Order: sequence, then C-alpha cells, then structure tokens
Amino acid sequence: MTDPGERLRSSLAADLPPSAGAEFDSPIAMEAMRATRVLHADDQDPFPAPGRIRVITVANQKGGVGKTTSTVNLGVALSLFGLRVLVVDLDPQGNASTALGVEHTVGTPSVYDALVGEATLAEVTHPTTASPHLRCVPATIDLAGAEIELVSVVAREHRLRRAIEAHLHELPAEERPHYVLIDCPPSLGLLTLNALVAGDEVLIPIQCEYYALEGLGQLLSNIELVRAHLNPGIAVSTILLTMHDGRTKLADQVADEVRNHFGELVLTSVIPRNVRVSEAPGYGQSVLTYDPGSRGSTSYVDAARELAVRGAALPPFVPVQPAPTAAPPPAAPPLNALVLGQSVATPTQEDS
Ligand SMILES: Nc1ncnc2c1ncn2[C@@H]1O[C@H](COP(=O)(O)OP(=O)(O)O)[C@@H](O)[C@H]1O
Ligand SMILES: [Mg+2]
Repeated sequence: MTDPGERLRSSLAADLPPSAGAEFDSPIAMEAMRATRVLHADDQDPFPAPGRIRVITVANQKGGVGKTTSTVNLGVALSLFGLRVLVVDLDPQGNASTALGVEHTVGTPSVYDALVGEATLAEVTHPTTASPHLRCVPATIDLAGAEIELVSVVAREHRLRRAIEAHLHELPAEERPHYVLIDCPPSLGLLTLNALVAGDEVLIPIQCEYYALEGLGQLLSNIELVRAHLNPGIAVSTILLTMHDGRTKLADQVADEVRNHFGELVLTSVIPRNVRVSEAPGYGQSVLTYDPGSRGSTSYVDAARELAVRGAALPPFVPVQPAPTAAPPPAAPPLNALVLGQSVATPTQEDS
C-alpha cells in the first residue's frame, strides 16, 4: 500500500511545475509555496484583460452547487491578479456579501434599492476587504420581497440591466470593471431572470455529485427563452465543475459526463471539495485570503486564470439581431458595446 504521506505529497504537488518538487519535500513547505504564489499575486504576471466588459451571470437553480462560492472566489482571484471586478449579490440570503465582508443588514444600501429605482448602482456599491479592485453590491433580506414588488413594475425583467448600464456609462473608462459577476438565487424567478437579461454570458457551476445534471435542462431552456425574447446576446460560456471529491469514482463519472455534453465550455480546472473553502465565509473572507495555500484557493486561481485567458480571446462586440418574434429590445445598447479603456460614447437618445 502507498504510504499516506507520499500520497498526500503527490496530491499536493499535482498542480506544481515539475521543477518545484525537489525543493519542496514536505506538504507544509509545498503549501507555503502555494500560499506565496497567491499572496504575492502582484509580483506575478497579471491576468489578461478581456477585450470587452464581461457581464457574467452565475446561475443554477439548484441550491448548494457552489454559485456563491465560485462568484466570490473567482471575483477575488481576478481582482488579486490585476483586473477590476464588480460582484452583484442577487440572492436575498446575501451570502456573497458575507463572504466579501460587506455589511448587508436591513437598511444597508443594496441591490434592492437599485432594482426598485430608489438608488443608482454607484450609490449601493461598497468596497470589499478582499481587494481594492473588487467592489460589491450587497443583497439584504429586503430583496426577498422584490420578486413580488417588481411584478407590476414597467420593464421588470430589465431593471438590473438598466442599472448596470447606467453605472458603466457613468464611470470613467479607467474605473470600469473588467468583470461584472452576478450571483443568482437558487430559483428561476424574476431575480434570476433579471440576471439573465443583464448578462452577456452565463457561468454554470455544476457540483460533481449524483443528480448534478438534474434540472439543468430547465435552466438551459430558460436561457434559450431569454435569448429569444429578452436578451439576444446571452449564451452559456462557461461550466465550472465544483466540489470534486477525488476519492470517489462518482465525481469523475459526473465530470466526464459534463465534459461529454458541454465540451469546451467546461473549464479544465476543477474545484476540489476542500474544507477551507467552506470555512472561509464564516470569517467574512474568500478562501484566497483565508487560506491562500489551500487547494481550494489555488484551484480557484487556476479557474480564474482560464476564464481570463478565454476572455482575452473574445472578439470585439458584434451586435446580435433579435429574432423577428422577439419583444421590443431593451432601450439601451448592449453593455459590452462599451469598450474598456476608451472614453464613454455620448449616450444616444435610446439610453435615456
Ligand atoms: N469546493 C468546496 N469545498 C467544500 N465546500 C464547499 C465548496 N464549494 C462550496 N462549498 C460549500 O457548500 C455550500 C454551498 O455552496 P454555495 O456556494 O453557497 O452554493 P450556492 O450558492 O449554489 O447555493 C456552502 O456551505 C459552501 O461553503
Ligand atoms: Mg448562493
């Protein structure tokens, strides 16, 4: 039987370059080295900026699959490696806000105020403790009522999109986020619909467990409906495998099945099940800041790097024509028409 210490060392070494092994012959030394790599992100090559602002909706109507964990940790990783990120918490539970150390008690200016039109997004955007490049729009429990309150409101599906568009237009080019990540609640209600209308891309976290694919068809058909009627630019761009337990065959089987089905949409990096990931939010932190050397932390850095590299290869914005049967398109131009680093175009009449 293999020595358990040896097994641990080889599993810890799995994501190190081949040359690194000789110098780091104990698990603690290797973990310390990995921590250094995350902590000193500033000294390493920054992630490439996307060719256009990426508004990514993180959705899966199943709860507990890693939506919030992935939004937070990908957001922190992108920001530690030099990109500007805005996380929009759209779940009344406010878990993303908690993990980013942003207050979200009742009365805190939050995404709810922006959705009901009582505040601009700038007024409800808060700094985070994780990184100066990472800002967060928190969610308070008030948001639970928004699904009902918004029902009678004009253009109820477009509220978040309008708020984000107005915000991006207002910001000087050098302050515009490269990434806007929207964390959805575990349902396909009006809040998730707002997120799908606001986004250009959908990132679906899939937990490497039995039943993982259950309900996915419903999510995909909803995305198709949104694409046909409300947001012709939306598409699933990324699948992230989460909570992979390397000790079980099942985890590999689910991962294989997902890769067979979704092909290149699936990121090569897989997030392992790692207790440090689940402990971090309890300290108001991401796993990258809580335990930078953990496998949870480094796997999120790897996934974020892949996301960024794919983003850098994105072609510039090309307008997508709505289907002939589509409802009237949103009044403002698509978000990714705004090119990073250029000055803001004067808003057209359509913007108002
Ligand atoms: N890679 C992981 N390893 C261990 N626990 C995890 C991991 N990812 C998420 N968790 C935990 O699983 C639970 C559900 O994750 P969460 O991101 O809140 O899911 P969702 O937002 O989809 O409901 C949380 O308690 C979280 O801390
Ligand atoms: Mg969540």
